[in-house]
Amino acid sequence: MPKTKPKPRKTPSSSPQQTSFHHPGSLLSVNDLALEDIGHVLKLASVLETEDPLKRMKRLFKRRVSLLFYESSTRTRTSFELAAKQLGADTVLVSALSSSIEKGESLKDTGITLRALGAECIILRHPNSGAPYVLSRATGLPILNAGDGMHEHPSQALLDLRTILQHVRGAKAAGPVSETTLKGVTVTICGDIFHSRVARSNMLLLPRLGARVVLCGPSALLPETAADAGPGITIERNFDQALQQSQVVMMLRIQAERLAGLNLDLDEYKLRYQANAERIAAHASKALIMHPGPIIRGLEMTSEVADGPQSAIAEQVRNGVAIRMALLVRALTAKGKTSR
Ligand code: CP
Repeated sequence: MPKTKPKPRKTPSSSPQQTSFHHPGSLLSVNDLALEDIGHVLKLASVLETEDPLKRMKRLFKRRVSLLFYESSTRTRTSFELAAKQLGADTVLVSALSSSIEKGESLKDTGITLRALGAECIILRHPNSGAPYVLSRATGLPILNAGDGMHEHPSQALLDLRTILQHVRGAKAAGPVSETTLKGVTVTICGDIFHSRVARSNMLLLPRLGARVVLCGPSALLPETAADAGPGITIERNFDQALQQSQVVMMLRIQAERLAGLNLDLDEYKLRYQANAERIAAHASKALIMHPGPIIRGLEMTSEVADGPQSAIAEQVRNGVAIRMALLVRALTAKGKTSR
């Protein structure tokens, strides 16, 4: 895994990981959440999803939420914005290319400015690992990490968890979770693990609920050290063998924007790691197929698989709104003061 990212903190899986100078409503890493908190978020997501829209609008009526995006996004930005609006909050979007960030304004000053303008919560996407921690210290506001560099994408991992639970637990998907909730479930994550914050958050989250995580990809995108990220994680370079063990298959895009000169033979990559109809039919005909998006059709996954009956990709997107509503309610109703 990349050397620049913050190291995962080793603490018991059921303990909250929030450090004292961050607002208790922040979500900077999946490790901020104890298992009990994860259960609450899942339950709240289900409550909010089916709640009467007028009642739901009162939850965060006229609360002010800022979306601060230094990188492009379709799913995360839109679903956070829809989530905030469905809760009655006012939203404002600041993106790097159309703001004073272009003139050189720092993340700290941007955050302080948004706070002065009334922001009560900031949702941040940033290319640098650890940026949400900087913003949290600078503003004292609840910060929701919408993806930071190669570090984490915690709301994505939570929506992925909800999607998996809906398939393995059905109606009980919204219930509490424990260290054995995903016992017997093997999740293969295949592709550009090295650059993926989605992979990292899922690698930190899923084993805490008892899942086995198998990582698959070429060594250029999956160094041997990736298995050291935590317990319950192994590496299998042969995709067909990984598929044969898996109830869930999470495919990842090759992050061209982070490859920095790395030359990959894409024909060779497709031969070995592409999720195509023949391979899935032969080795994982019952597995749930997931992808955080955006998909590069014809590279890591063919259209037949992306649009096929095993695909949960649209469900993942839909679950993003429910999970992000729950995270916003948590962020803006958390008790306790920030101490810095
Ligand atoms: N999954 C995800 O983060 O997608 P976006 O980059 O479109 O937000």
